[in-house]
Amino acid sequence: MSSLSILPHEYQRFCDFLQRSSGIRLGAGNEYLVVSRLQSLMVDQRLVTYDQLLNAMEQNQNLLLAVVEAMTTGETEWFRDEHPYRILRELILPDLLARRQSVHVWSAACSTGQEPYSLAIELMEYQRRFPGSLPPRSTGLLSVLATDLSEAALSTARQGTYSQLSIRRGLSADLLHRYFQIMPAGLGSNQVSTHDRWRVNEDVRKLVTFERHNLQRPFDEFGKFDVIFCRNVLIYFSADLQYDVLRRLHASLKPNGYLMVGASENLLSILPLQAREWFESVQCFPGVVYRAR
Ligand SMILES: C[S@@+](CC[C@H](N)C(=O)[O-])C[C@H]1O[C@@H](n2cnc3c(N)ncnc32)[C@H](O)[C@@H]1O
Repeated sequence: MSSLSILPHEYQRFCDFLQRSSGIRLGAGNEYLVVSRLQSLMVDQRLVTYDQLLNAMEQNQNLLLAVVEAMTTGETEWFRDEHPYRILRELILPDLLARRQSVHVWSAACSTGQEPYSLAIELMEYQRRFPGSLPPRSTGLLSVLATDLSEAALSTARQGTYSQLSIRRGLSADLLHRYFQIMPAGLGSNQVSTHDRWRVNEDVRKLVTFERHNLQRPFDEFGKFDVIFCRNVLIYFSADLQYDVLRRLHASLKPNGYLMVGASENLLSILPLQAREWFESVQCFPGVVYRAR
């Protein structure tokens, strides 16, 4: 048996394992995803069948974590979809600052850091436009918490260093030059090279705290937030887990706090009727944000 095929019972067993450990629900017909994402790991571990892999994971926590890592989708970009950040700038921040002084933001499922750093940059841009409008970071009233299940993604995020390719995905030249430092690939050239990397400035990095966290687990220890971005992760979960996470996100928001989900995640269709009253949807054209009642 080559690692290129997975038997029906192995696929079922693998799906059960993945859902239990990460909440990610693969559903029918995604065998190719398991095979393609685990191929090199199977070769490295000299495993021939997926039953062997599943058995080995029971004894080996590191292998289990590596498998979960391989199955996560870290697709992200700077200022993804634009409208969430426009809504933050034009609706959420003015509303919050008129009512209270703190701006505690949580990027739940932050992947490699583009989302929390975009949020931090948006806060700094707001402060630049309206000096004195936001509390200084030193007061502890301004913060961005960023969490994810994937340690590999978090390690990139903490480093805060990105390739040209990643930088081109959503970042304007203006923001790049204001909030990043170039780390030239080689000496002796004044030209920007495609091999150069860019590091998020310390001021931005200092606003963001990264922590590993699985959204299946309780998160009340993180405290209450004014704004939560939980984008493009609920889509991977079962309806039960979506409901459970949204219930707990609602509990983690301060009254009238805001929840931003992904463009393809519609709370009103995810939540059962009786739970829709947790959030009031605010249509923003384009985009929608949910305000906790
Ligand atoms: C598609 S990325 C979304 C990143 C970012 N929020 C965005 O919208 O660009 C999904 C992220 O969810 C994370 N993830 C998957 N399951 C998770 C879980 N149970 N708890 C926390 N994060 C999870 C993955 O590691 C991945 O980084």
